[in-house]
Amino acid sequence: MRFDIVTIFPGFFSSFLENGILRRAIAESLVEVAVHDLRAFTHDRHRTVDDRPFGGGEGMVLKPQPIAECLSSLGIEPKRSKQLSYPMQVSHDTNSELEEILDGRSTECQGTTSVVPTVHKKEDWALAPAEVRPTVILLSAQGRPFTQAIAREIASLDRVVLICGRYEGVDERINQLYCDMELSIGNYVLSGGELAAAVVIDATMRLIPGVLGNQASGEFESFGVADAEISSDEEGVPRSQHGAGGLLDYPHYTRPANFQGLSVPAPLLNGDHQQIRRWRREQQLRKTLANRPDLLENAELSKEDRKLLESIRDSN
Ligand code: 6GU
Repeated sequence: MRFDIVTIFPGFFSSFLENGILRRAIAESLVEVAVHDLRAFTHDRHRTVDDRPFGGGEGMVLKPQPIAECLSSLGIEPKRSKQLSYPMQVSHDTNSELEEILDGRSTECQGTTSVVPTVHKKEDWALAPAEVRPTVILLSAQGRPFTQAIAREIASLDRVVLICGRYEGVDERINQLYCDMELSIGNYVLSGGELAAAVVIDATMRLIPGVLGNQASGEFESFGVADAEISSDEEGVPRSQHGAGGLLDYPHYTRPANFQGLSVPAPLLNGDHQQIRRWRREQQLRKTLANRPDLLENAELSKEDRKLLESIRDSN
């Protein structure tokens, strides 16, 4: 899978790309990341990427021209390109959240179904069917919330372009002309989309098969995955869900068994897998009730879970 990042701070991404799981994924060619400096697509002496907002108001807006030229250098032309010459291909996969978002894009390619493509360059993404054209994502505080489900869908794509907004925003015509979706990583305002792009890449790349060493880790894509589908180790003890599966993850402990006067909870020490399972489930319920009660509404809870939850609520 390939990510192209469009940014005015290309240096921001160096430590991110050079460390941890992502570094290995890149070294093993499972993931490719290219960072593109927006200023390289300006033509004035000051390499101007921003300008004052029409209608007045605070701050500056990223100009559309450098972004358009940067995308063009990647072979990406506006979605509504009059040159669209490919037959429409409709995906019949499950109607995922991402597909709903991308449906708008597919529709825009319609009306040319009878035209058979002739010769095309490999990089001519703008003329390509939806399955071939890279997915262009604008990162902005005005975007749809980025979720584990969207991460999972993005991980299934071949090529994704991430445009990092800055200042007060990006000229909206970039969104209209080129972007397939606009994503936000949370309910707060960042100075720019760079941190958000890193978040999206991190959450996504770890879902690509082979990126996490642990084979079963692929199943950790757990936000929304039913309890029954959560993988277990050889002894039937449920694996960590990395804060997902509808409920938050249970707490983890490692050696020493006693640290600064605090002992590891007894159920984890005696090797009774049934007891470990029950303890972890109860801790998941406790954590979720305390930190994310909103998740309990959609979590898949067994009868036993509900009873446990009631007794936790009563004891609080
Ligand atoms: Cl993607 N960009 C900015 N500027 N602020 C944000 C965000 C993105 N997501 C949450 N806040």
